[in-house]
This record gives sequence, C-alpha cells and structure tokens, in this order.
Amino acid sequence: MSSTYRLAVVGTGGIAHLHAQSLQSNLAGRIEVVAAVDPDAERLEAFKAAFGVERGYASQEELLAAEELDLVDLCTPPGVHADGAVAALEAGVGVVCEKPPALSLSEFDRIAAASAASSADFSVISQHRFGSAAQRVRNMMASGVLGSLAVAKCDTLWYRPEEYFAVEWRGRWETEGGGPTMGHGIHQIDTLLSMVGPWTEVVATAHRHRRATNTEDVSHAIVTLANGASVAITNSLLSPRETSQIRLDFDCATVELDHLYGYGEENWTVTPLEAHVEEVMQAWYSKPRGQASGHGAQFAAVADALDKGTAPPVTAADARHTLELITAIYASAFSGKPVRAGDVDPTSPYYLRMDGAGTPWPDRK
Ligand SMILES: NC(=O)c1ccc[n+]([C@@H]2O[C@H](COP(=O)([O-])OP(=O)(O)OC[C@H]3O[C@@H](n4cnc5c(N)ncnc54)[C@H](O)[C@@H]3O)[C@@H](O)[C@H]2O)c1
Repeated sequence: MSSTYRLAVVGTGGIAHLHAQSLQSNLAGRIEVVAAVDPDAERLEAFKAAFGVERGYASQEELLAAEELDLVDLCTPPGVHADGAVAALEAGVGVVCEKPPALSLSEFDRIAAASAASSADFSVISQHRFGSAAQRVRNMMASGVLGSLAVAKCDTLWYRPEEYFAVEWRGRWETEGGGPTMGHGIHQIDTLLSMVGPWTEVVATAHRHRRATNTEDVSHAIVTLANGASVAITNSLLSPRETSQIRLDFDCATVELDHLYGYGEENWTVTPLEAHVEEVMQAWYSKPRGQASGHGAQFAAVADALDKGTAPPVTAADARHTLELITAIYASAFSGKPVRAGDVDPTSPYYLRMDGAGTPWPDRK
C-alpha cells in the first residue's frame, strides 16, 4: 500500500538542502518534509524558507514531542548521529541517517540495539548503491555471465584544501570519526561491497601527509574478499584531479565506474574478452537502465520499502558490514598488522574509536 510519509529533516546545513531538493523533485506525494530542526536559528529559517517547510524546532527532542512522523532524516554532523537515531527509534520513528552512521562500531551497536527494540527501522544514506548500472552489475554477477571476480580497485581521490577543515567537526576523531576513509571513501567502499560481497581480511596503511587535521588525509588498503578476489582501495583528500573509481576484473570482462559525486550510465565501461562479447553486452544492455545514482534514487527505494512494509535500504546490517571494513582499515594501519573480519570485537580499542589507542602522529586540530 502506498501512503505519503511524513519526514522531518534534522540538521539544516549543506547536505540537508540536497536532501530537500531531491525529496521535493523526485518524491512529491510520497515523502513530505513537514518539519526541520537546527539549533542554528538562521540556518533553520533559511531552510524553511527555501523549501516551504512550515514548522521548525531548535532540538530533536522538541520535534519528537510535537510531531507525528514516519521518518527523521539525520543530516547532522557524524558525532550526533547515534543520539539522534536512538531517540527517534525509541519514539517509534524510522531513521534515514547520513553517512557515516556513527563514529565507531560501539556507537553503531547502540543504534542497532535501539533499532532491534523499535517498531521502526534504521537506514543509512549511501546513494551510489542506487544507480541502475550498479544494480545490473549485481544482477550480472548473480547470473554468472561475468565469470568470477579476480581483482578489483576502489579509489576515492578527492581534493580538500586546508580551509575545508575550518568547519569545527571536520578533521577530528571525536567528531568526524576519521578522514577520507570514513568520511569520503565510505561511498565507494559501500558501493563496492554491495557488488562484491563480504570481505575477510585487510592490510592497510594510513598517512597524514599534508593537512592540519588529527585524522588521516590518505589511506591505502588491500582487502581479501570471501570469494577469494583481492581489492586495492585508496582514499585521498590530496588529489587535484579528483575522481571516484571502481574497477572490477572478472574472468570474462572488466567493469569500470569513473565519476566524482554521482554517476549515470555514461560513467560505466564494460570491456568483455572477445569470446564473451555477445552474452556480456546483452546482459549489460538489459534492464534496469537509466536511473542515475543519487539521494532521489535512494529515497525512492526507501518509500518503496515502506509501502511494502519491509526495512528501508541501506539496512543496519549492510551499514555495519561497511563500517566494520573501515574500522579494520584503521585497525590494520595503526597496529601494523593484518585484521580479519570479526577481529574488532568489544575488547578491541578500535571498537570504541577508529584511532584505537591513538595515531602515530600528534594532534594538530
Ligand atoms: N551523502 C553525501 O553525499 C554527503 C555529502 C556531504 C555531507 N554528508 C554527510 O552529511 C552530514 C552533515 O554534513 P553537512 O556538510 O551538511 O554538515 P553542516 O555542518 O553543513 O550541517 C550540519 C547542520 O547540523 C546542525 N546541527 C548540529 N548539531 C545538531 C543537533 N544536535 N540537532 C540538530 N541539528 C544539529 C548544524 O547547526 C548544521 O546546520 C555529515 O554526516 C556528512 O558526512 C553526506
């Protein structure tokens, strides 16, 4: 059954505007923005005026006391995601939470426990899972037409100047949870995992080459997948020619994605071996087609799930799997040892903080 779902945007900064635009242009009649929250009165008023939202609140507590909601959309800085998510779930309100969902696995498990005890669900924004080309790759992998995956690359090579870190919450473990691995590469890493399945082991390094942050500005990881393939992942904020890339080399074809902050069909290339051209390209030109990645595509999937009474994507289980890999990258980088899936349990310092017992470099922020 389809209804109109009542959503409140919590945190009305940069990304909240993109959410509201996506909702109003793609989800009109399905998801309605009925209220907004921000302790910064000026930002709140600007957001309400920009999107014709009638009611605003200075805190999420006031929002939950006053409104009947289906969803809160957490567009707050990462350090307040866990408290916001738990409060909404305890009130029986579903949560769509911007990435990263939490600062640590420990915080994440607090959300997961609240979600398990709630009538509502927790989901995380990872908009690049939702382009139709990524879905076709998942379908093609499942059908066997590509053969097995042997090797892959996953690069988030972005550029963020020093001024970017003037925003208080950026560049600190306590408020951002990490540098480009956690805050930026998470998009590609999550999209990659949605295609290639579970990982088993990581060997990684992390570096602070340039920026006056406490977090890394570059990381490299070699990840072994459960299917036996290996993936090289690089996350950088020091790369003037910016690109977001995933390359998958299967037995029968290479599949490549090359974009920056979002992709359409034109950002993908499929290069089959000559012996497999016909069946690979037939599968590649099949449906679904034409849906670009983006918040609109994910919110449509959220509304579809609510209509069907199922848990909206990206589910808590999916999000934890990605957060586990990111945690393992930091744990390997800072311990100098390989880290296997499951190694970071509640007895590990990396369960509590992504920098575990501390970084090899002194704080600068
Ligand atoms: N999916 C994407 O492509 C994407 C892109 C950019 C940012 N993000 C994520 O979105 C989140 C927000 O990033 P941003 O760049 O919009 O940040 P921002 O600093 O521009 O905005 C955050 C807003 O939240 C408000 N806020 C802080 N604490 C609050 C609280 N307790 N309750 C209500 N409001 C509160 C702030 O006043 C501010 O207006 C981050 O987690 C970030 O990683 C995602």
